[in-house]
Amino acid sequence: MLRLENLSCGYGPVVAVEDVSFDLPAHSSLALLGPNGAGKTSTIMAIMGHTTIHGGRILFNDQDITRLPPVKRVDLGIALVPEGRRLFTDLTVEENLTVGGYRLSVQRDKINRQRVYDLFPRLSDRRKQTAGSMSGGEQQMLAMGRALMTEPKLLLIDELSLGLMPKMVDLCFDALAALKQEGVTILLVEQNTARALDFAENVCVMTSGSLAFSGTSKQAKADENLFDVFISAAHE
Ligand SMILES: Nc1ncnc2c1ncn2[C@@H]1O[C@H](COP(=O)(O)OP(=O)(O)O)[C@@H](O)[C@H]1O
Ligand SMILES: [Mg+2]
Repeated sequence: MLRLENLSCGYGPVVAVEDVSFDLPAHSSLALLGPNGAGKTSTIMAIMGHTTIHGGRILFNDQDITRLPPVKRVDLGIALVPEGRRLFTDLTVEENLTVGGYRLSVQRDKINRQRVYDLFPRLSDRRKQTAGSMSGGEQQMLAMGRALMTEPKLLLIDELSLGLMPKMVDLCFDALAALKQEGVTILLVEQNTARALDFAENVCVMTSGSLAFSGTSKQAKADENLFDVFISAAHE
Protein backbone atom coordinates (compact mmCIF):
# COMPACT_ATOMS: atom_id res chain seq x y z
CA MET A 1 0.00 0.00 0.00
CA LEU A 2 2.74 2.42 1.00
CA ARG A 3 6.24 2.29 -0.40
CA LEU A 4 9.14 4.60 0.34
CA GLU A 5 11.92 4.35 -2.22
CA ASN A 6 15.26 5.87 -1.20
CA LEU A 7 13.47 8.81 0.34
CA SER A 8 15.54 11.80 1.39
CA CYS A 9 13.75 14.80 2.81
CA GLY A 10 14.03 17.69 5.22
CA TYR A 11 13.18 21.32 5.76
CA GLY A 12 14.42 23.61 3.01
CA PRO A 13 18.11 22.80 2.61
CA VAL A 14 18.23 20.89 5.94
CA VAL A 15 18.36 17.12 5.47
CA ALA A 16 16.45 15.18 8.16
CA VAL A 17 15.94 11.81 6.45
CA GLU A 18 18.36 10.13 4.08
CA ASP A 19 17.81 7.21 1.74
CA VAL A 20 14.99 5.53 3.63
CA SER A 21 13.11 2.67 1.96
CA PHE A 22 10.37 0.46 3.32
CA ASP A 23 7.17 -1.28 2.29
CA LEU A 24 3.91 -1.29 4.17
CA PRO A 25 1.47 -3.87 2.76
CA ALA A 26 -2.28 -3.21 3.04
CA HIS A 27 -3.79 -4.29 6.37
CA SER A 28 -0.38 -4.56 8.02
CA SER A 29 1.19 -2.45 10.72
CA LEU A 30 4.65 -1.03 11.10
CA ALA A 31 6.34 0.45 14.15
CA LEU A 32 8.82 3.18 13.33
CA LEU A 33 11.26 3.41 16.24
CA GLY A 34 14.45 5.24 17.12
CA PRO A 35 15.94 7.86 19.42
CA ASN A 36 15.00 11.53 19.52
CA GLY A 37 15.95 13.39 16.38
CA ALA A 38 16.26 10.18 14.33
CA GLY A 39 13.87 11.43 11.66
CA LYS A 40 10.67 9.56 12.56
CA THR A 41 8.42 12.62 12.52
CA SER A 42 10.08 13.91 9.36
CA THR A 43 9.39 10.57 7.63
CA ILE A 44 5.73 10.77 8.60
CA MET A 45 5.56 14.41 7.53
CA ALA A 46 7.03 13.46 4.15
CA ILE A 47 4.33 10.82 3.68
CA MET A 48 1.74 13.50 4.49
CA GLY A 49 3.40 16.04 2.18
CA HIS A 50 4.83 18.48 4.69
CA THR A 51 8.57 18.31 4.03
CA THR A 52 10.99 19.28 1.30
CA ILE A 53 11.78 16.22 -0.82
CA HIS A 54 15.47 15.89 -1.67
CA GLY A 55 15.28 12.55 -3.45
CA GLY A 56 13.48 9.25 -3.82
CA ARG A 57 9.78 8.48 -4.17
CA ILE A 58 6.68 7.82 -2.11
CA LEU A 59 4.14 5.45 -3.65
CA PHE A 60 0.61 4.87 -2.36
CA ASN A 61 -1.21 1.97 -3.99
CA ASP A 62 1.29 2.22 -6.87
CA GLN A 63 0.55 5.92 -7.40
CA ASP A 64 3.49 8.29 -7.12
CA ILE A 65 2.43 10.80 -4.44
CA THR A 66 5.89 12.25 -3.78
CA ARG A 67 4.82 15.75 -4.75
CA LEU A 68 1.06 15.55 -4.29
CA PRO A 69 -0.48 18.30 -2.09
CA PRO A 70 -1.38 17.09 1.44
CA VAL A 71 -5.13 17.46 0.97
CA LYS A 72 -5.02 15.18 -2.09
CA ARG A 73 -3.28 12.55 0.05
CA VAL A 74 -6.10 12.79 2.57
CA ASP A 75 -8.56 12.21 -0.29
CA LEU A 76 -6.61 9.07 -1.25
CA GLY A 77 -7.07 7.72 2.28
CA ILE A 78 -4.05 8.81 4.32
CA ALA A 79 -4.57 10.46 7.70
CA LEU A 80 -2.25 11.72 10.40
CA VAL A 81 -2.43 11.83 14.17
CA PRO A 82 0.34 14.37 14.70
CA GLU A 83 2.95 14.51 17.42
CA GLY A 84 1.60 16.71 20.23
CA ARG A 85 -1.94 16.13 18.90
CA ARG A 86 -2.42 19.70 17.53
CA LEU A 87 -6.06 19.96 18.56
CA PHE A 88 -8.06 23.17 18.59
CA THR A 89 -8.05 23.41 22.37
CA ASP A 90 -10.76 26.11 22.57
CA LEU A 91 -13.13 24.10 20.40
CA THR A 92 -15.35 21.31 21.69
CA VAL A 93 -14.98 17.61 20.91
CA GLU A 94 -17.79 17.91 18.36
CA GLU A 95 -16.22 20.93 16.72
CA ASN A 96 -12.80 19.28 16.46
CA LEU A 97 -14.44 16.33 14.71
CA THR A 98 -16.18 18.75 12.36
CA VAL A 99 -12.78 20.18 11.42
CA GLY A 100 -11.53 16.64 10.69
CA GLY A 101 -14.47 15.94 8.41
CA TYR A 102 -14.85 19.34 6.81
CA ARG A 103 -14.69 17.94 3.27
CA LEU A 104 -17.37 15.32 3.92
CA SER A 105 -21.05 15.32 2.98
CA VAL A 106 -23.44 15.83 5.90
CA GLN A 107 -24.35 12.15 5.73
CA ARG A 108 -20.76 10.83 5.77
CA ASP A 109 -19.91 13.24 8.56
CA LYS A 110 -22.73 11.81 10.64
CA ILE A 111 -21.75 8.18 9.99
CA ASN A 112 -18.06 8.76 10.66
CA ARG A 113 -18.75 10.79 13.78
CA GLN A 114 -20.83 7.94 15.16
CA ARG A 115 -17.99 5.51 14.40
CA VAL A 116 -15.62 7.71 16.40
CA TYR A 117 -18.04 7.85 19.33
CA ASP A 118 -18.52 4.07 19.21
CA LEU A 119 -14.77 3.56 19.28
CA PHE A 120 -14.27 6.14 22.04
CA PRO A 121 -17.28 6.27 24.40
CA ARG A 122 -15.33 8.75 26.55
CA LEU A 123 -15.49 11.24 23.70
CA SER A 124 -19.20 10.66 23.29
CA ASP A 125 -19.68 11.60 26.95
CA ARG A 126 -17.67 14.80 26.42
CA ARG A 127 -19.10 16.10 23.14
CA LYS A 128 -19.65 19.63 24.42
CA GLN A 129 -16.42 19.83 26.40
CA THR A 130 -13.51 21.86 25.02
CA ALA A 131 -10.51 19.80 23.93
CA GLY A 132 -8.19 21.79 26.17
CA SER A 133 -10.15 20.88 29.29
CA MET A 134 -9.71 17.14 28.78
CA SER A 135 -6.93 14.83 29.99
CA GLY A 136 -3.99 13.98 27.76
CA GLY A 137 -5.43 10.55 27.02
CA GLU A 138 -8.81 11.96 26.06
CA GLN A 139 -7.09 14.50 23.84
CA GLN A 140 -5.17 11.70 22.14
CA MET A 141 -8.46 9.88 21.54
CA LEU A 142 -9.85 13.06 20.00
CA ALA A 143 -6.78 13.44 17.79
CA MET A 144 -7.33 9.87 16.61
CA GLY A 145 -11.04 10.54 16.16
CA ARG A 146 -10.37 13.64 14.10
CA ALA A 147 -8.08 11.62 11.81
CA LEU A 148 -10.69 8.87 11.50
CA MET A 149 -13.30 11.35 10.25
CA THR A 150 -11.64 11.14 6.81
CA GLU A 151 -12.08 7.33 6.64
CA PRO A 152 -8.36 6.60 6.26
CA LYS A 153 -7.03 3.40 4.76
CA LEU A 154 -3.59 4.32 6.09
CA LEU A 155 -3.29 5.87 9.53
CA LEU A 156 -0.04 7.56 10.55
CA ILE A 157 0.34 8.02 14.29
CA ASP A 158 3.21 10.02 15.75
CA GLU A 159 3.89 9.26 19.44
CA LEU A 160 0.66 7.60 20.55
CA SER A 161 1.45 7.12 24.23
CA LEU A 162 3.88 9.93 25.02
CA GLY A 163 3.00 11.55 28.36
CA LEU A 164 -0.21 9.56 28.90
CA MET A 165 -1.34 7.76 32.06
CA PRO A 166 -0.96 3.93 31.80
CA LYS A 167 -4.73 3.40 31.77
CA MET A 168 -5.07 5.82 28.84
CA VAL A 169 -2.21 4.17 27.00
CA ASP A 170 -4.15 0.91 27.26
CA LEU A 171 -7.34 2.50 25.93
CA CYS A 172 -5.51 4.12 23.00
CA PHE A 173 -3.81 0.85 22.07
CA ASP A 174 -7.14 -0.99 22.39
CA ALA A 175 -8.67 1.44 19.90
CA LEU A 176 -5.73 0.99 17.57
CA ALA A 177 -6.09 -2.79 17.78
CA ALA A 178 -9.78 -2.43 16.84
CA LEU A 179 -8.84 -0.32 13.82
CA LYS A 180 -6.23 -2.86 12.79
CA GLN A 181 -8.90 -5.55 13.08
CA GLU A 182 -11.10 -3.50 10.73
CA GLY A 183 -8.29 -3.58 8.17
CA VAL A 184 -6.80 -0.11 8.59
CA THR A 185 -3.10 -0.07 7.73
CA ILE A 186 -1.10 1.53 10.53
CA LEU A 187 2.27 3.24 10.76
CA LEU A 188 3.06 3.89 14.40
CA VAL A 189 5.84 6.01 15.86
CA GLU A 190 6.09 5.12 19.52
CA GLN A 191 8.65 5.63 22.29
CA ASN A 192 7.31 2.66 24.25
CA THR A 193 9.34 0.10 22.31
CA ALA A 194 7.92 -3.00 24.00
CA ARG A 195 4.37 -1.85 23.38
CA ALA A 196 5.09 -0.99 19.77
CA LEU A 197 6.75 -4.34 19.05
CA ASP A 198 3.81 -6.18 20.58
CA PHE A 199 1.36 -4.20 18.47
CA ALA A 200 2.99 -4.10 15.05
CA GLU A 201 4.21 -7.11 13.10
CA ASN A 202 6.90 -5.13 11.29
CA VAL A 203 9.44 -2.63 12.52
CA CYS A 204 11.86 -0.06 11.17
CA VAL A 205 14.46 1.52 13.42
CA MET A 206 15.94 4.88 12.45
CA THR A 207 19.09 6.55 13.76
CA SER A 208 20.47 9.88 12.54
CA GLY A 209 18.05 10.10 9.64
CA SER A 210 18.77 6.64 8.22
CA LEU A 211 17.34 3.16 8.59
CA ALA A 212 19.32 1.09 11.09
CA PHE A 213 17.03 -1.94 11.01
CA SER A 214 14.08 -3.19 9.04
CA GLY A 215 12.34 -6.50 9.66
CA THR A 216 9.69 -8.27 11.64
CA SER A 217 9.01 -7.43 15.28
CA LYS A 218 10.07 -10.96 16.16
CA GLN A 219 13.45 -10.39 14.51
CA ALA A 220 13.75 -7.01 16.24
CA LYS A 221 13.14 -8.54 19.66
CA ALA A 222 15.92 -11.08 19.02
CA ASP A 223 18.45 -8.53 17.74
CA GLU A 224 20.77 -7.47 20.55
CA ASN A 225 22.37 -4.66 18.56
CA LEU A 226 19.02 -2.91 18.53
CA PHE A 227 19.06 -2.70 22.29
CA ASP A 228 22.22 -0.61 22.03
CA VAL A 229 20.31 1.88 19.88
CA PHE A 230 17.66 2.29 22.54
CA ILE A 231 20.02 2.22 25.49
CA SER A 232 22.15 4.97 23.96
CA ALA A 233 18.95 6.89 23.27
CA ALA A 234 17.94 6.61 26.92
CA HIS A 235 21.23 8.25 27.95
CA GLU A 236 20.98 11.21 25.58
N1 LIG B 1 10.92 22.21 11.25
C1 LIG B 1 12.19 21.80 11.21
N2 LIG B 1 13.16 22.58 10.62
C2 LIG B 1 14.45 22.18 10.57
N3 LIG B 1 14.89 21.01 11.06
C3 LIG B 1 14.00 20.20 11.65
C4 LIG B 1 12.61 20.54 11.75
N4 LIG B 1 11.96 19.54 12.39
C5 LIG B 1 12.90 18.61 12.66
N5 LIG B 1 14.11 18.99 12.23
C6 LIG B 1 15.36 18.23 12.33
O1 LIG B 1 15.21 17.01 11.65
C7 LIG B 1 15.84 15.95 12.34
C8 LIG B 1 14.86 14.85 12.59
O2 LIG B 1 13.86 15.30 13.49
P1 LIG B 1 12.49 14.51 13.72
O3 LIG B 1 12.02 14.01 12.41
O4 LIG B 1 11.59 15.40 14.49
O5 LIG B 1 12.98 13.28 14.62
P2 LIG B 1 12.17 12.32 15.60
O6 LIG B 1 10.72 12.44 15.31
O7 LIG B 1 12.72 10.96 15.30
O8 LIG B 1 12.50 12.75 17.00
C9 LIG B 1 16.44 16.56 13.61
O9 LIG B 1 17.78 16.82 13.39
C10 LIG B 1 15.64 17.83 13.77
O10 LIG B 1 16.42 18.81 14.43
MG1 LIG C 1 9.15 12.97 16.53
